[in-house]
Amino acid sequence: MTLRLTILRPSSASGGADLPPAPHGQRRLIDSHGREIRDLRLSITDRCNFRCTYCMDPDVAFLPREDLLSDQEMVRLAGIAVGLGIRKIRLTGGEPTIHPGLDGIIAGIASTGVHDLAMTTNGSRLELDRLRAWRDAGLTRLTVSIDSIQPGRFAAITRSRSSPAAVVDGIRAAQRAGFARLKLNAVIVRGFNEDEVVPLASLARDLGVEMRYIEYMPLDSGRHWNPSLLVPASEIVDRIGAVYPIVPAGRDAADSTSLSYQFADLPPGEGSRIGVIAPVSRPFCGACSRLRITADGKVRPCLFSLDEFDVRPLLRGGRDDEAIAGFLVDAIWTKQAGHGINTPAFTQPDRPMSAIGG
Ligand code: 5AD
Ligand code: SF4
Repeated sequence: MTLRLTILRPSSASGGADLPPAPHGQRRLIDSHGREIRDLRLSITDRCNFRCTYCMDPDVAFLPREDLLSDQEMVRLAGIAVGLGIRKIRLTGGEPTIHPGLDGIIAGIASTGVHDLAMTTNGSRLELDRLRAWRDAGLTRLTVSIDSIQPGRFAAITRSRSSPAAVVDGIRAAQRAGFARLKLNAVIVRGFNEDEVVPLASLARDLGVEMRYIEYMPLDSGRHWNPSLLVPASEIVDRIGAVYPIVPAGRDAADSTSLSYQFADLPPGEGSRIGVIAPVSRPFCGACSRLRITADGKVRPCLFSLDEFDVRPLLRGGRDDEAIAGFLVDAIWTKQAGHGINTPAFTQPDRPMSAIGG
C-alpha cells in the first residue's frame, strides 16, 4: 500500500464542467458511498471488426478520430490512476486488438507498475506471435468473448465472417503463449443463444478455462434491450446444473462481478469452472470498485453514468499530473450508488457499451 494522503489543490477549475472538489481532500479514489476504486477499465478504441447484435447496430456512429486519446495520453492517464491506488487495469474496446499501437500501450501501462493488466477481446485476432508479444510486454490476463459455437449463429450474432472455430484456435494459441486463468465471456440473450449455455460449458471443460455468462444489459447502441430478452442468472445456473454437477463457490473477492461455481466431477484446482455475471437480476453495485475511461477521455464513474467528465482538455492543455489526479479524485466522488436498471426512473446512457468499454 503506497497511498499518500495529501491535501489536493482545488482541481475543479481545471477543465471539468460542474465538477466540485471532493470534500475529503485526500489523494485517493473514494466515492461518497464509501467505496474505494481500485479497478480501471480503459477503452482504447470504440472501433470493432464485429457488430454484435447486443452491442452495436450495423450503422453505429464511431467517435471522431481526432477525439481519441493518443497512446501516450492513455499511458500517462493510467500512470496517474495507478498513483491514486488503481491496482487492476483492463483494456477494452470496441475491440482492443485492432488498435495499431496495442503493443506499445501494453508495455507503457505495464511500466506504471500496475499489479494486474488484463484485456477483453472478441478473439478474432489472436495469433501466437502477437499473444507472445503482449505477454512479454506485460499483459497478465485475457478474457475472450464467445457467444455461440454454431457457425451460422455465431456469424449472425457478431455480423462478421469470423467463426467459433477461429476463436477457439485463438484461445488455444493464448494458452500456448502462456496465458493461464483464461476466461471466456458469453452474453446470453433470450431467443438468440440460451440453448447454448450447456454447449458453452462443455467447451470450457474441454479447454480447461472459466466460462462466464453475462446477463444482457441495456447498453446496446440500437436500444433493443427489454426485460423479456433477459435470461436471468438463476436460469443459466439451472440449465448447467441439469447436465453437470456444480457447486456454488461464491465471489473470488467482495468486488468481483462474477458468482463462481465449481464442477463437482472435476478435481479441485482444475482450470475449468463457471462464472455468472448478473448485473440485472443480482446487482453488485454496493461493492463496486470500478472506474471507466472511454477512448475519447471521458471519465465515467459508473457503466450507467449519465454524467461523464472530460479529462482530455487537461491532458491536451498542458496540465500537470497533480491537476489530472485531482480531477479523477473529484470525478470519483460523484459515483452513483447503483444503476437502478430495475427502477421506473432508469435511463439508458447515450453511449453504447462499445463507446464505454465493458
Ligand atoms: N450486455 C452485456 N454485456 C455486453 N457486452 C457488450 N454489450 C453488452 C450488453 N449489452 C460485453 C461483451 C464483452 C464485454 C466487453 O462486454 O460481450 O464480453
Ligand atoms: Fe465488438 Fe465486443 Fe461490441 Fe461485439 S461486443 S461488437 S466484439 S465491441
